[in-house]
Amino acid sequence: MERKSAGISLEDAQTAARARIAAMPGGQKIVTCPLCGYQCLSYEDLLSHYLDSHPGCIAPIPLSLTVNGKSCRVIVEPHLTLKEVLQFHLGLTGAKHMCDRGQCGSCTVILDGKPTLSCNTLAADCDGKSVETVEGIALNPKWKPLIDAYCKWDAMQCGYCTPGFLVSAKSLLDREPHPTTQQIKEALSGNICICGTYPRHAQAILEAVEVMSKGGEV
Ligand code: FES
Ligand code: FES
Repeated sequence: MERKSAGISLEDAQTAARARIAAMPGGQKIVTCPLCGYQCLSYEDLLSHYLDSHPGCIAPIPLSLTVNGKSCRVIVEPHLTLKEVLQFHLGLTGAKHMCDRGQCGSCTVILDGKPTLSCNTLAADCDGKSVETVEGIALNPKWKPLIDAYCKWDAMQCGYCTPGFLVSAKSLLDREPHPTTQQIKEALSGNICICGTYPRHAQAILEAVEVMSKGGEV
């Protein structure tokens, strides 16, 4: 059955997510100065350029991440959060910007296996780490029943908080494949939905668990 949310089908959303992950930079050859746009052939050239042209300014730093299973190397401004690097350097917009102060859970990603608020995680502290975003979860067939159950039970209205809820739910199911309703509520307690979809999340997750345990489809 074709699932639709916010006017686009799940298949279209998956195709877009696949394209974004494929477009993430594996290893940058040309490094562009974020201050003046000057193009350098290596990170070392960029550091020399900063010394010559922007003395006193703090130079960007190299960052290696594994994002949704793909190795990425980016040169980023040292003050950026993980959410900003995912959005502005890697083109992944699934982790949402809502409160931007660690209060709502909309920006949740899984960092080295733990649910993490990407809006208050400094990207520089993530060097060498593994990041899983809602795009990677949506493309993994194992989690299709979870996505389908969210669509079936309309566990969203505007949908802005939904990626954060889905990432928290997936993280819970990694730890506890057969959670109780209470465990679901506790795992999602850091996620806020302004539209008030709270009862639907446990309903969707419990159904997804049942379907996954039978190896079927919602
Ligand atoms: S945007 Fe990160 S917790 Fe709200
Ligand atoms: S569905 Fe709108 S904020 Fe949750």
